[in-house]
Amino acid sequence: MTLADEAATRALGARIAGALRVGDAVLLSGPLGAGKTALARAVIQASGITGHVPSPTFTLVQHYETADLTIRHFDLYRIEREIDLAELGLEDALEDGAVLAEWPERAADYWPETALHIELKPVGEQTRIAHIRGGEYWRRVVDGI
Ligand SMILES: Nc1ncnc2c1ncn2[C@@H]1O[C@H](COP(=O)(O)OP(=O)(O)OP(=O)(O)O)[C@@H](O)[C@H]1O
Ligand SMILES: [Mg+2]
Repeated sequence: MTLADEAATRALGARIAGALRVGDAVLLSGPLGAGKTALARAVIQASGITGHVPSPTFTLVQHYETADLTIRHFDLYRIEREIDLAELGLEDALEDGAVLAEWPERAADYWPETALHIELKPVGEQTRIAHIRGGEYWRRVVDGI
């Protein structure tokens, strides 16, 4: 899918937000500045969160409560050891809520089969190519954007 500008990224985020359930993992890959945080922020805001949605670059995880779902937004860039993942509560996060994760490669063994994988590739100032992979459920969500 081609995301021509940030509005297109926000539209994709809104579609994902509308479908997000407990146990879902949305895995956001791509280089620095690709738009992983921008897409995660779009999902969180479209879920009804109105306050500041910071990048979890330093906190590693940010926690949000919407009307009917817990969402945790992880940035695993700085993770170096397996044990750090356990301490961060990645497994617990999938048990009681949905997870949005930047740099999911750092925790490759953790993700459920049902995960939605999105790889963002910058191809210009505002244009991003999104390579999207997931099961049938996610195909229906993302189709037709
Ligand atoms: N179509 C687009 N989608 C997403 N972001 C875009 C788009 N066009 C421009 N941008 C800009 O690209 C930047 C993306 O930054 P962002 O922090 O989301 O990247 P990131 O992938 O999370 O990087 P990092 O690996 O450092 O966490 C922002 O400044 C955003 O405004
Ligand atoms: Mg980021």
